[in-house]
Amino acid sequence: MSDAFKKLSDIKSEALKGGGDKRIEAQHAKGKLTARERLDMLLDKGTFTEMGMLVKHRSKNFGLDKQVFYGDGVVTGYGNIHGRLVYVFAQDFTVLGGSLAEAHAEKICKIMDLAMKVGAPVIGLNDSGGARIQEGVVSLGGYADIFYRNTQASGVIPQISAVMGPCAGGAVYSPALTDFIMMVEQSSYMFVTGPNVVKTVTHEEVTSEDLGGASVHSNKSGVSHFSYPHEVACIEGIRKLLSYVPQNCEEEPPALPYDTADEQRPSLDRIIPESANQPYDIREVINAITDQDTFFEVHKDFAENIVVGFGRLAGKSIGIVANQPGFLAGVLDIKASQKGARFVRFCDAFNIPLLVFEDVPGFLPGTDQEWNAIITNGAKLLYAFSEATVPRITVITRKAYGGAYDVMNSKHIGADLNFAWPTAEIAVMGSKGAAEIIFRREIADSENPAETLAEKDREYADLFANPYRAAARGYVDDVIMPSETRQVLIKAFASLENKVVNNPKKKHGNIPL
Ligand code: HXC
Repeated sequence: MSDAFKKLSDIKSEALKGGGDKRIEAQHAKGKLTARERLDMLLDKGTFTEMGMLVKHRSKNFGLDKQVFYGDGVVTGYGNIHGRLVYVFAQDFTVLGGSLAEAHAEKICKIMDLAMKVGAPVIGLNDSGGARIQEGVVSLGGYADIFYRNTQASGVIPQISAVMGPCAGGAVYSPALTDFIMMVEQSSYMFVTGPNVVKTVTHEEVTSEDLGGASVHSNKSGVSHFSYPHEVACIEGIRKLLSYVPQNCEEEPPALPYDTADEQRPSLDRIIPESANQPYDIREVINAITDQDTFFEVHKDFAENIVVGFGRLAGKSIGIVANQPGFLAGVLDIKASQKGARFVRFCDAFNIPLLVFEDVPGFLPGTDQEWNAIITNGAKLLYAFSEATVPRITVITRKAYGGAYDVMNSKHIGADLNFAWPTAEIAVMGSKGAAEIIFRREIADSENPAETLAEKDREYADLFANPYRAAARGYVDDVIMPSETRQVLIKAFASLENKVVNNPKKKHGNIPL
């Protein structure tokens, strides 16, 4: 081998070792994979092409000139997932704690720029001590260069962030600007300020896990959309998520071949309970209507009163938004509105048709909700549906009360096809509440107020607790049996395939943030 060839071979084997065997061992001891192991698992076998393997930092501050590693703490490049191109970066904690500075940031920016040019998703595997402290402002500049690209890429290409270790300080804002965040339980955390700063400022004693671990962000803050018990499951989650989304905003989501067969689902006729106040799990409805085992829930543990996720109908990718009568009666509150709105906007940006299941008693009353701006937040969901131009279908399974009737993808805000089951109740409010208000005097003056209330309650329910008034107006296009819903929806979405809607020309709207 000539000297020149040998030199290259030596350089590459050194680069592949990252921060060295000891640090790799330490990474494994924490139950974590290395950046390269993660990429190996994420991408289709043998498809990874690395870029910037030989990049080094140029800093001499605080002894950094003695700590120079090929790749500068991040492995970047491209490869395939399910045979489709993706761009990837994986921070290498074994090199200077995966800390980000000028060269590290330049590598990430380079693959983001390429992904934008060719229209392919970007996946970031984050595991970093944050801004490289020795490099000062160039580290901060590097982050901002990435934030800017995250924002420019938003709505153009899907961006997925997996947090597989520390992600602290301003570093959290890159994942936050992407479409989906995934976290690994017990080994990843995200916070703007860590436990030490928290203790100094607020005197609270809190662990990293309790402050910003996977469970906190998947159910309290909603920052994370998916939480996994270990890294392997997280990587499988990324691959699965990508199977529902297109490469970019100009393309359609991938479809699987499907031959229609017997699409009746008789079990659906037995789902709605006898009493309107009894709960049921909307996931049973979703699972019975979508292709078998295709429902992939997003934000599962956050705002459980609304269920959102991807599924397939006759092989085609759809986005599902559904009130959950099994949790807080499916009421719409601040968190549910935020969760629903964010998901609707992702689907709309990436041409994924929307299917809505509606069983909602209204918006949650109370000072907590009002003082924390249920008005502004509820408006987010209303806005997101109203501006969505993808095919949009609603099925009212039971309650469609009050403002929530309008918000949940009603015909009035641009839904294309609206169906109701015979069990639907479409009214301004529940019949008892309505009777108490409109017949208040009559009830109070009567000899037996309880009996009069019950009578008026029945009267209101007979008039409005059904789908036929709305159907008579054309607000719902048909009343259908639950068992035939899948069949109806397959045809309905097929009929909308070539839908074209252009919203009025504008720079951008002003969604109530
Ligand atoms: C330089 C860093 C580093 C950093 C870690 N290292 N973080 N080097 N800059 N930000 C180095 C460590 O010195 C150590 O080097 C090696 O990486 C591994 O770190 P350990 O501390 O041994 O690992 P661990 O015990 O697992 O702890 C991980 C950690 C801790 C919790 C992340 O390293 C830590 O607290 N780091 C500092 C975090 C931080 O304050 N970052 C700045 C956030 S502000 P040696 O050679 O000793 O093995 C920020 C602003 C961004 O990011 C703003 C954008 C707008």
